[in-house]
Order: sequence, then structure tokens, then C-alpha cells
Amino acid sequence: VRDSRSNALTSRPLRVELGDRSYEIHVGSGLLERAGDLIAAAAGGGRRFVVTHPAIERLHGESLRRGLGAVPCETILVPSGERQKSLRRAAALWDALQAGGADRRSVVVAFGGGVIGDLAGFAAAAYMRGIAYVQIPTTLLAQVDSSVGGKVAVNHPAAKNLIGAFHQPRLVLADAAVLQTLRARDYRSGLAEVVKHAAIADAEMFAWLETETRAAAGRESSAIARMVRRSCEIKAEVVRRDERESGLRAVLNFGHTVGHGLESVMGYSALRHGEGVAIGMVAAARIGRHLGMCSAEVGDRLAALLESLRLPTRIPGTPLSGILNAMRSDKKAVDGSPRFVLPRDIGTVQAGCEAPPKTVSRVLVELGASTAEEE
Ligand SMILES: NC(=O)c1ccc[n+]([C@@H]2O[C@H](COP(=O)([O-])OP(=O)(O)OC[C@H]3O[C@@H](n4cnc5c(N)ncnc54)[C@H](O)[C@@H]3O)[C@@H](O)[C@H]2O)c1
Ligand SMILES: [Zn+2]
Repeated sequence: VRDSRSNALTSRPLRVELGDRSYEIHVGSGLLERAGDLIAAAAGGGRRFVVTHPAIERLHGESLRRGLGAVPCETILVPSGERQKSLRRAAALWDALQAGGADRRSVVVAFGGGVIGDLAGFAAAAYMRGIAYVQIPTTLLAQVDSSVGGKVAVNHPAAKNLIGAFHQPRLVLADAAVLQTLRARDYRSGLAEVVKHAAIADAEMFAWLETETRAAAGRESSAIARMVRRSCEIKAEVVRRDERESGLRAVLNFGHTVGHGLESVMGYSALRHGEGVAIGMVAAARIGRHLGMCSAEVGDRLAALLESLRLPTRIPGTPLSGILNAMRSDKKAVDGSPRFVLPRDIGTVQAGCEAPPKTVSRVLVELGASTAEEE
């Protein structure tokens, strides 16, 4: 559909069906410029509190401000980095909301990547027992994953995302144009979650990525539109069927058991989230093969696709014991035993799988985990 106002190629919005918490995801370009009308329709006319990083404000703040129009609007700046996803930073947001006169009609606008979305969404979830928020994701990872689904959280020194809530946004605006300014490594990190969505639910999308690798990696706008739209469809459908992760939603954690373990051992600045997930998906496929759940081809195709997208598929010499410990203390572990999402084939996975510790260790060592300290 050709959008007359923005003169940009914008398709019909997707809808996340969650009863009175339903919302629309708009995917396209020229969305920042239309943000004011779209937010007013979805979340009313209250004061806007835009939470963003200084760098995003410099690059895209003016487009958004133009789009927001005349409604009273305040910007709250947060430094970049996973460390900002903290209770301390959330408290600073509550201070700023309070000082700025935020009330029950106010709308928090999370304008950034997954860090901003999780942090600002968490702040909105608790402020006055929950005020409206809107996601304007600016990283590929946030557009294809974290901005949809209503999981918001901050990290605890002991574990990532330990303190959080379910709080659905009123609206998601995924504008492809903002992705052009992302650093290469951040863009690639998002591609890992696109591969994940294809691997858990859409073999055809996976095959498309295998042939259109260049367009996907090269940020061609038609490729971005397809990846974001299809990823949001897949995630929205899973969330619709299991909003609070009592079962099915766990499939979205494909690659995350090992991925989170690696992230916490290596440090979030050394390993981007999607990089951990890329390695984790290859590990899961290998574990699945050892358990007779899938053929070797599944792991081979995953590794080949991730490598052609220049994502890591091997563990860079990280100590095995550290990874195993981190996996045991993950909040999805049951009685200290990590749970895995394992592939049956490209496009189909099984959640909640237990795997013998020996098999897990063997796969991690095959992928490069170091056992030196234990010798
Ligand atoms: N809530 C969920 O369901 C969910 C799902 C997946 C990941 N997450 C969370 O998301 C976080 C990771 O998100 P991320 O990968 O987007 O990282 P991020 O938010 O830290 O962004 C990565 C970097 O890109 C910069 N940036 C953002 N947009 C930019 C733009 N348009 N141009 C230039 N630079 C830009 C940021 O300043 C930052 O330095 C993790 O905390 C993870 O736990 C949450
Ligand atoms: Zn993820």
C-alpha cells in the first residue's frame, strides 16, 4: 500500500491480539514523521516522555520531534549500554517522570534498542502501577524481537532480566530508515534473532535468508521490511497464544540457554546478545542431533547461514565450567537443570527439553569452550 501522507512504502499494520491489551505494529518507513497521530490514536493525548540515548537523539531526535507535533513532550536521556538496564536507572526515570509531572494519562515513548525498550517499559509498568508506553525500536534486534511481546525488565547484579514485568506497549513503530545508522555489529546481532524466528517457525523464510543473504546483510530496504514484518508476525502469534510464557512462548528462547550463559560469562560488552544467540542456536542443534531429535543437516545449515551473515558460531575459548554454572542459575532452569529448546527440523522446535550434562559439555567443548582450568 502506498501511504499518501509520508509518500513511503508502508504496509498495513500487524495486530497483536491480546483482548483489551491488543496493539498494532507498524512496519515501514516514514513512521517517525507520523508518530504523533499514531500515538494519539493508540494511547491518547497525555504528556509524552521520550526515553532515549544521546546518540539516537542526535541522529533521529529531530525527525521524531517533528512527528510528535504540538503535544507537550519531554526527553529523558540515558547513557548507552547494557549496564543502564538497572534498578538504579529505573529509579532515575521515576524521578524524572515525577518531576516532569507525569500522570496516569502520560505516555512513555521508548525510543531506542532493546536496552531502552526494556528499561523504559519497566519504568512505565511500575510508575503509578502502570502507565501507557509506546515502542519506537531503533535497532534491528528491537524491531524484530524485544519491542513486541510486553516483557520488560532490568538486570540484577546476579542475573540478567531478573527484575521485570509483563506490560504490553500500546503501539510499536518499526521504522526501517533508522536502521541505516546502526553500527555493523549491532545490525548483525539483530539478524541472529531473524534467523531464530525462521528456524523455529518458518522453513520458507529460512530458505529465503539462505538465498538473499546479501540483501539481508546489506540492509536493503525491501529485505529489512520482509525480515521485520515476518519476525513480528511469528513473535506476535506466539505471544498471542501464550502471553505470560506458561509453555509455547518458550520456543522464542531457541539459542538462548547457551547464549545467555555465554553473555553472562563473557560480559555483555564483549558479546552482543544476538552473537550469543547465534552460538547458542548452533549448540542447540548439535545437542539435538546427539539426542537423535534432528539430523546433522539442521546444525550445518544454521551454522552456514549464520557464518554467511558474519555471526559467530564458535565459543571463543570461554571456560566450560563458567558457562555450565551460568546455565544452571538461569531463571529458566528447573532445579538447577537448564532447559533447552531443540530443533526437530528447520522451522520446528521442541521447548522444555532436558539434556544429559555430558552431552551438553561435549557439544560446548566441540564448539571451543576451554577445559584448561579443570585439568
Ligand atoms: N524484552 C524482550 O523480549 C527482549 C528480547 C530480546 C532482547 N532483549 C534485550 O535487548 C537488549 C539488547 O538490545 P539491542 O541489541 O537493541 O542493544 P542496545 O539497545 O544496547 O543497542 C545497541 C547499540 O546501538 C545503539 N543504537 C541504537 N539504535 C541506533 C541507531 N538507530 N543508530 C545508531 N546507533 C543506535 C545504542 O546506543 C547501543 O549502543 C538486551 O538487554 C536484551 O536483554 C529483550
Ligand atoms: Zn534474544
